[in-house]
Amino acid sequence: MTTVSIIYFSGTGHTTKLAEAVNQGSASVEGVKTNLITIRGEDIAKGRYANETVLAQLDASDAIIFGSPTYMGGPAAQFKAFADATGERWYRGAWRDKVAAGFTVSSGPSGDKLSTLHYFFTLAMQQGMVWVGFPETPMNDKGINRLSSYSGVMAQAGQEPTDVAPNAADKLTGELLGRRVASIAAKLNK
Ligand SMILES: Cc1cc2nc3c(=O)[nH]c(=O)nc-3n(C[C@H](O)[C@H](O)[C@H](O)COP(=O)(O)O)c2cc1C
Repeated sequence: MTTVSIIYFSGTGHTTKLAEAVNQGSASVEGVKTNLITIRGEDIAKGRYANETVLAQLDASDAIIFGSPTYMGGPAAQFKAFADATGERWYRGAWRDKVAAGFTVSSGPSGDKLSTLHYFFTLAMQQGMVWVGFPETPMNDKGINRLSSYSGVMAQAGQEPTDVAPNAADKLTGELLGRRVASIAAKLNK
């Protein structure tokens, strides 16, 4: 059995919708079990993420997919509090060779979302993980990767309610990322 964990923060629910789509994609791959984990404010004590049960779940995963809205041109502070808490894993090399990928939501078509994906990439590289990008081209009639992001998945949502944003195309894009990561992790796990 291959385990894929999706860990994300969401302030107003848009990133949650994308995370659910990513999870659906990963769970659709045979032999893959998923954990969909939200970073909760109450898990942050004195500015540092402190949920050891979640960190242990990640330790036991073959792949970890990071998600956060883009806030002020980077990941949300809650995500960074989580990332900083993984420093002890860095010290032990505990996440080396795990598969990694990421997704983000913001209101602008660009909105500096790439900074958030690049932060996830840097975190993954520090942890010795293997980064999986998103090679789907936007030349399709379903809106897959309509924002043309190859480093990870980008979705767009602003003030709209979460039942309409991110839109179906962005959620499908997230689902395909989840499937891709899970397929690669399962292959490596053989
Ligand atoms: C504090 C804050 C900072 C934001 N910064 C950006 C930004 O830099 N670029 C952008 O396009 N949207 C920005 N937004 C909009 C959010 O990224 C957008 O509303 C997103 O859908 C929120 O996701 P969530 O519902 O998962 O929290 C910001 C929103 C907030 C609350």
